[in-house]
Amino acid sequence: MSAARIVVVGTGYVGLTTGACLASLGHRVTCADVDEGKVARLSAGRVDILEPGLAELVAKGLTSGVLSFVGQARDAVADAEAVFLCVPTPMGAGGAADLSAVEAVVAEIGDALPPGCAVVTKSTVPVGTARRIRELLGRSDVAVVSNPEFLREGTAVADFLGPDRIVVGSDDRAAARRVAGLYRALGAPSVVTDAASAELVKYAANCFLAMKLSYVNSIAELCERLGADIEAVTEGMGHDRRIGRSFLKPGPGWGGSCLPKDTSALLRTAEAARFDFGLLAAAIEENIAQRDRVLAKIAGAVGGTLAGARIGLLGLAFKAGTDDLRDSPALSVASMLAAHGAEITAYDPAVTRELSGLTVVDSAYRAADGADAVVVLTEWPEFRQLDWTFLAGLMRGDSVVDTRNLLEPRVVLDAGLSWQGIGRSSAGVLATSVS
Ligand code: UGA
Repeated sequence: MSAARIVVVGTGYVGLTTGACLASLGHRVTCADVDEGKVARLSAGRVDILEPGLAELVAKGLTSGVLSFVGQARDAVADAEAVFLCVPTPMGAGGAADLSAVEAVVAEIGDALPPGCAVVTKSTVPVGTARRIRELLGRSDVAVVSNPEFLREGTAVADFLGPDRIVVGSDDRAAARRVAGLYRALGAPSVVTDAASAELVKYAANCFLAMKLSYVNSIAELCERLGADIEAVTEGMGHDRRIGRSFLKPGPGWGGSCLPKDTSALLRTAEAARFDFGLLAAAIEENIAQRDRVLAKIAGAVGGTLAGARIGLLGLAFKAGTDDLRDSPALSVASMLAAHGAEITAYDPAVTRELSGLTVVDSAYRAADGADAVVVLTEWPEFRQLDWTFLAGLMRGDSVVDTRNLLEPRVVLDAGLSWQGIGRSSAGVLATSVS
């Protein structure tokens, strides 16, 4: 396909990024969403999601007329060559993915699709969904293709336009190749597979990342017990190209809208296939344990008793660069602190809404005011630029717990505060440089 007519159903961060980026590659794209208010806002160029570069691409697409927004997917698909399904697949009962939104869209558009069209799943869907969609459609003249996305929130546009690979799978290989052709301008390698394999690639990749992070958090814990330094250890590991340098940063546990739901869903898939996926189950358990260890560290920093302690939290989003709070480890830690009777004041540069159980303020200094301990939970770069001497003067206590190893320890120590990271030894902190 050179310039193709494409419909994208769902305008969440995956759908809107997919639509706007495919339009920027020269395709004619209509994005559909059942939320009429959102359609009106997007048609006026207003993007609600915090995603660098996205609003600009939407504006460009609207101005050049290659991108448009509608409420009813059914009205848009009549001349589509490909219809991308980008609707949510949340965690349903028992941890399995809930496919009701995908099924509802298929029921809505099924008989309006033109012959030769490809229905493409972009949302993360369980293995076997392509087959299920084929059954629901009941049309031999429409192909069903799996084309998982690997976008990260906060860098979705850059990830879309500079992908490591494009994965496209269908039992109709010609249709898979046509969909892979939509991305030709990006020059990325494409992996063309059967439908089930493409569906599994997405889970296998996300679960691998989750396991890598749980492994690193476990090694960080061992570092603390053995007097080694995680920064030095991961630096030493990351140079091995078989391991790679990314996803080696310890933290308060992994979260967000994808890794927790996809690890649970793959575990359920494995159970249904009567495979005991102990490795994945352990990665999930380790992630819970990491939050407990962070809680214990904070308790230690305030003398062992959280009841009545005043804690200033820096960061609420599940990672920097997003305002997304879904399955945020920061929020889990906040609610565990609250359950132990701590008084919490929190600041996040991207979060201004009220949250229950804590007071959200509009600056890091306000969060630190009167605090016994300040805890960094999201790796926003601006926390490194704070005036830590001024901040120390506002605090009641002197403890800083940095669950992202974000701050420059020397700066915090020089401000008269104590600093504890994750998996950092005092020798490592003082030696710091690894060249
Ligand atoms: C993840 C995957 O990285 C994407 O490839 C995938 O497309 C996406 O899920 C999805 O399925 O839609 P995302 O959820 O945006 O992307 O976030 P990540 O950047 O992967 O971070 C996930 C969690 O791991 C966050 O809580 C983050 O703070 C944590 N993390 C990440 C670490 O603790 N250390 C690291 O070194 C990297």
